[in-house]
Amino acid sequence: MVLGYNNLGDYLHNQEFYFGAVPGRYANRIAHGKFMLDGKSYQLPLNNGPNSLHGGTNGFATHNWSAKEIANGVEFTLVSPDGDQGYPGTLTAHVRYTLAGATVRMEYSATTDKPTVINLTNHAYFNLSGEGSPSILGEKLTLDADQYTPVDSTLIPTGQIAAVAGTPFDFTHATTIGDRIDAANDQLKFAGGYDHNFVVRGTPGTLRPAAKVYDPASGRVLSVATTEPGIQFYAGNFLDGSAKGPSGGPYVKRSGLCLETQHYPDSPNQANFPSTELKPGHTYHSVTTFTMGVEK
Ligand code: BGC
Repeated sequence: MVLGYNNLGDYLHNQEFYFGAVPGRYANRIAHGKFMLDGKSYQLPLNNGPNSLHGGTNGFATHNWSAKEIANGVEFTLVSPDGDQGYPGTLTAHVRYTLAGATVRMEYSATTDKPTVINLTNHAYFNLSGEGSPSILGEKLTLDADQYTPVDSTLIPTGQIAAVAGTPFDFTHATTIGDRIDAANDQLKFAGGYDHNFVVRGTPGTLRPAAKVYDPASGRVLSVATTEPGIQFYAGNFLDGSAKGPSGGPYVKRSGLCLETQHYPDSPNQANFPSTELKPGHTYHSVTTFTMGVEK
């Protein structure tokens, strides 16, 4: 049910799609790859039109993290040096994946030796009908979100926090993804479908429901909970058939979806968004769970 490659080399060399990766140091986009911190300006690589995406050209997804076995799981560690991809401070990041029953828990932590910005997520693509199935458009999505952050034509948030009610972004009740994905709507046009950050209901910092996907064909259910303030629903619009998975079938447009729990895109440049700054002496901490189930 998770899209991916069948060998490590493909994960390290085919960087366009981020299958199963942990994008960083800053997941999603930073406008013009620029931000200010403590009066200093920083420039990141522009690897997505005019913007920096997922930490830049050689972001965290291009690295083979070191791995250590822990109880019921594995802990991955990456040390990103001061100045890596233009970001200040040596950042030490850990992601612990543990399995309990049908729940995979991802626990992220990080520390820095200089003020920096951080936003980590998991970029797994799901297709509940099975990896290699042609489309996710028949799956039903629920998002625990009454608001989302509209974007400009380069997918940078405008700064507005908009209500989903009455728009194709209203997933407060289970809705078939394909129903409105091609609706006449500028937001959907900019992104070629859903590729937007939703504001997760409830208090950031507490683990609470964020999303649920139901596949009527198989009865399979994926439930996502997170401590993060937001979740990016990406419908795999940019998959183009060039990547192939273990089943051999090409991963075509909208054959997988991502639910990337996160801070909002471009937060370092948006004063009204929750802060993504990490200071020395503080620890970044974030938890997301993916739970599989069956409902008939
Ligand atoms: C972004 C998409 C991007 C994709 C890369 C997602 O997190 O929102 O716009 O194309 O990552 O595979």
